[in-house]
Amino acid sequence: MTLALTTAGESHGPALVAILTGLPAGLVLDRAAIDHDLHRRQQGYGRSARQRIEHDEVEVLGGLRHGRTLGTPLGLVVRNRDHDNWAWGMSPWPPDGEAHGKGTEPVTVARPGHADLAGALKYGLRDTRDALERASARHTAVTVAAGAVAKTLLAAIGVTVAGTVVEIGGETDEQAQREATDSARADRDTLGGIVEVSATGVPPGLGSYATRDDRLDARLAAALMGIQAVKAVELGAGAELARRRGSDAHDEIVPGLRRTTNRAGGVEGGVSNGEPVVVRAAMKPLPTLMRPLGTVDLASGERAQALVERSDVAAVEALAVVAEAAVAWELARAAREKFGGDSLDDFVAAHRAYLERIPWRPH
Ligand SMILES: Cc1cc2nc3c(=O)[nH]c(=O)nc-3n(C[C@H](O)[C@H](O)[C@H](O)COP(=O)(O)O)c2cc1C
Repeated sequence: MTLALTTAGESHGPALVAILTGLPAGLVLDRAAIDHDLHRRQQGYGRSARQRIEHDEVEVLGGLRHGRTLGTPLGLVVRNRDHDNWAWGMSPWPPDGEAHGKGTEPVTVARPGHADLAGALKYGLRDTRDALERASARHTAVTVAAGAVAKTLLAAIGVTVAGTVVEIGGETDEQAQREATDSARADRDTLGGIVEVSATGVPPGLGSYATRDDRLDARLAAALMGIQAVKAVELGAGAELARRRGSDAHDEIVPGLRRTTNRAGGVEGGVSNGEPVVVRAAMKPLPTLMRPLGTVDLASGERAQALVERSDVAAVEALAVVAEAAVAWELARAAREKFGGDSLDDFVAAHRAYLERIPWRPH
């Protein structure tokens, strides 16, 4: 038994869609909790006006009855309210009538740092919008909704997952982060940053060293690297470990099978070891600058300036929410593999029986 997530939808299309399979029956979902995470994703000091247009809310089209999962595929939808302004330009079917609104002219100027050039070449596109609409981080809205479902499942076995901002523009202090964001905005520039996701209550034994694909560290890295603009992932002390001696790099085991340090970030040999799972993701500065970068017009081959589309100065706070959802999803997937069960009760009972077998208790 495993979880699987499939999504569809473009940034300015009618909606974002997710199908979640492998959930047990009997999981009680809270619409307000999912919407709260969608709202959290839209917050942050450096965000653009788009976030004021979109007030994301989840709709459920299948797999749920009276708030309880049925053990069948769960169909989630987050509508793009901004689609009203793009109804002609992003119409799924050939549009009727005169062109109106946004997205009516082909975009041929490829923006550095985005999928525009690579996507146009790969798929043979004349309008880079056909690439950028899906490559955009907008569809993280629906992965955050899926993450909220995963967190609900994990809560049933006492696992909590939380994402926080570590750095924005190299600054760790909140006031300094705001000043750096203001300064970048004034310079019509952008910032990146680092987020950390920490999961507590994770039992030992999620993931496996059996094959590369089973390794929990590899899976968490792929989940985080799969988020737009994430360029590096660390587990525990991460890259810093490479600069330490072995005597200062590992987590000695003390009676009670606990550790006094957690440099491994809760995973050893690709398996959770019972300590909190701690991962970090580093985000590059957003590539759409209000002071555009140099590029080439793909239609003429001539030098050009990148398109300036309404854009965030920084989205590190949003990344913390998206990364939290990604880690929750991967942990929930690993927990489904370990504990299985068609009903939530079976899943919880398998977890309880496992804890009776092993001498480990949550912190
Ligand atoms: C939550 C979130 C919001 C983002 N918002 C923007 C944005 O407003 N402008 C922008 O240029 N890039 C934004 N990005 C980053 C782009 O989506 C990303 O740079 C682009 O997909 C290319 O990065 P990649 O090479 O890692 O895919 C955002 C990323 C995330 C995770």
